[in-house]
Amino acid sequence: MEFTIKAGSPEKLKSGCVVAGTYANGDLTAAARALDKACDGAIAAVLARGDLDDKPGSTLMLHDLAGIAAPRVLLVSLGKADELTDKTYRDAIAAAARQLSGSVAGDASFCLADAELPHRDLAWRLAQAAQILRDSTYRCDELKSKKEESRKGIKKLVFIVKGKDSESLEAAVLRGEAIAEGVALAKTLGNLPANVCTPGYLATTAKKLAKDHKIKVEVLERDDMEKLGMGSLLSVARGSHEPPKFIILNYKGGKAKDKPVVLVGKGVTFDTGGISLKPGEGMDEMKYDMCGAASVLGTFKAIARMELPINVIGLIPATENMPGGSATKPGDIVTSMSGQTIEVLNTDAEGRLILCDALTYAERFEPAAVVDVATLTGACIIALGNFTSGLLANDDELAAELLASGQTAGDKAWQLPLWDEYQDMLKSNFADIPNIGSKGAGTITAACFLARFTKAYKWAHLDIAGTAWKSGADKGATGRPVPLLTQFLIGRAGQ
Ligand code: BES
Ligand code: MN
Ligand code: ZN
Repeated sequence: MEFTIKAGSPEKLKSGCVVAGTYANGDLTAAARALDKACDGAIAAVLARGDLDDKPGSTLMLHDLAGIAAPRVLLVSLGKADELTDKTYRDAIAAAARQLSGSVAGDASFCLADAELPHRDLAWRLAQAAQILRDSTYRCDELKSKKEESRKGIKKLVFIVKGKDSESLEAAVLRGEAIAEGVALAKTLGNLPANVCTPGYLATTAKKLAKDHKIKVEVLERDDMEKLGMGSLLSVARGSHEPPKFIILNYKGGKAKDKPVVLVGKGVTFDTGGISLKPGEGMDEMKYDMCGAASVLGTFKAIARMELPINVIGLIPATENMPGGSATKPGDIVTSMSGQTIEVLNTDAEGRLILCDALTYAERFEPAAVVDVATLTGACIIALGNFTSGLLANDDELAAELLASGQTAGDKAWQLPLWDEYQDMLKSNFADIPNIGSKGAGTITAACFLARFTKAYKWAHLDIAGTAWKSGADKGATGRPVPLLTQFLIGRAGQ
């Protein structure tokens, strides 16, 4: 879907479909009012009959209205005008996107961004619309032998704005598109099965990204990791025949002297649990255990596309977690790159074991901040469900920055406490630290474990176990938290 921005009167637009918003109780947005006037009140009459539900996201397609140049008018309900929220706006855009994808209109004029949303400027409304519309065209049919071929869907879409379009609005649309492309990459990597998306595949994907954009990539092999003393990461890889990879991405969009933000993504391409084997039901979903890594790659794609003036390092420890003759056993003690010894009481708590070495590696970049992203704990799904990522941090300012970025991006997180009291739940009789805590607060004790490796810098941890993918009928990766991370970096770049 190609986007442009234009100023114009909705009734005179010669596209396949004009999209305009309506409010509950027959109230109209400015665009819908202009359309209604041109067709002598035909729209108001249809609404008065109750053909369009007041619920936000309800839609009604009207055809061949006299006085309106476009053959189709898609009305989208925004709910009550004085109750308009980010969520209702996004829901309305998503509903419009669904209708357009099933339409033969071919091109559309999109007026929904004139919704009178408090506290959100036109640039935000356009960026969100571009992102949601582009995201709605995402399909994952790479591994189907027959691709769905459809003549339906919108190829060109014009955002209609009042007055002249400006550079800042164009930049906003570009940002929305770039985020959607990052999300698409993260979704595809997540959705690919573990026999395709191996640690090696993640490394190849990173190299491809580097070829197409201003990104440098280095991939460390098992030998290199051994030399660095990454005994914790390697202990997870022991049970697998797939070689582990440690992927380092470097995006230099800022000044040479600017300290980088470091993003770390958990890249367990399949998590069987290892010797502490998981139950069989639903185990296929553990192919998604590399969604942290996927979101780092997606975020790099987004920021490189928008040429963001900032320096960012990406670190991806990638491995499978398999049982096997040489796999790590419960009770084994391993030495991390930091020198701290770890008693592996449960081989299924492997995410923290690979992240801790990546977090130690991060120190060499003298980072402005480090954010790790991981499908780390089932407990996070119990605590926050599937709408909200868990956030824990050793710095409250950084936490607040990330929470706000999530709000702006429509990719929300909520902070859990990382108080010292919880550190007492991590005690080992035989090593410096066990890899699991005593009963309760599983998301927090996992973060407490990571906190032992992040004392040298400002750090935040995003637990995306509940938000990275959907189960059930629309099973699939969500591409989260690419929008949150990209928004955070946009903010850090001072834009
Ligand atoms: N990848 C899982 C976490 C997970 C579980 C994500 C279910 C999404 C859905 C992680 O490696 C894991 O197995 N965590 C264990 C930790 C436990 C052994 C302390 C968990 O959450 O059960
Ligand atoms: Mn696990
Ligand atoms: Zn895992």
